[in-house]
Amino acid sequence: MAKIIGGIGTSHIPTIMLKMDNKEMTGPYWERFNEGIKPLRAWMKEKKPDVCIIVYNDHGSNFSLKNVIPFGLGIADEYLPADEGYGRRKVPTFKGDSALSCHLAEHFNEKEFDVAMSFELDVDHGFSVPASLAFGEDLEEWPCKFIPLYVGVVQYPQPKGNRCYNLGKAIREAIESYPEDINVAIMGTGGLSHQLQGPRAGLINVEYDTWWLDNLVKDPESIKDISLTELIRETGSEGAEAIMWLTMRGALTKEVNEVYRFMHVPISNTNYSLTILENKED
Ligand code: DHB
Ligand code: FE
Repeated sequence: MAKIIGGIGTSHIPTIMLKMDNKEMTGPYWERFNEGIKPLRAWMKEKKPDVCIIVYNDHGSNFSLKNVIPFGLGIADEYLPADEGYGRRKVPTFKGDSALSCHLAEHFNEKEFDVAMSFELDVDHGFSVPASLAFGEDLEEWPCKFIPLYVGVVQYPQPKGNRCYNLGKAIREAIESYPEDINVAIMGTGGLSHQLQGPRAGLINVEYDTWWLDNLVKDPESIKDISLTELIRETGSEGAEAIMWLTMRGALTKEVNEVYRFMHVPISNTNYSLTILENKED
């Protein structure tokens, strides 16, 4: 049977891919950050997931504001990095697992979750930055397959946190009912606090992020119903991307071990945050 071996929460700041791809992640600005992400790469090397589900949001790269989709699933055997204005990233093509995607789609349907299906999907920094953070640079190929699960957080109203959390639970049930013997990791991406525009541009709230993350680890039910208004007020308009971490958390056991946490302020405009969670029963 398939199983979920752990969950990662990570910001997906696009500056990271630009600097990484240009070999410019050097100097004092990046020193602490480069050190801080090493345990994530070590964890992936040790755990060797067969498939990594990345819960992310598209930032108008594959989709536009003509159609806004609350939840969607990639069902393909490969995904290309989107051209976000600089050409496609020169990273290997992301290989998919369309059989597992089909299983997820069927399970979501069974659980009455309406999740769009994308049979062709270009993935932007929301997806490819977490992949690079987790698996490193200069790869000839990625060490695992990927499944993109996108959440419409760029247009209000966003899906509610509780719904994101419950979708995570449905993912867990689906994985645990998949007959192949494979290990699956799940990443929730985006956040934590940042606001990119308007009078509050540059807002960062480490205290709130730390409180929220503490609760994500030990009592996710206590934060799943936080309103969008509160999240935006406390963590900025783009800080609300954090709801995607609730999907990752919902896919894990009730109790988890946080084996690593790292925060670094700022990377670009964001409180870069990383957590690695393992299921307690494991
Ligand atoms: C930044 C962060 C994001 O999550 C994003 O999607 C775009 C920009 C930033 O901090 O610059
Ligand atoms: Fe983002």
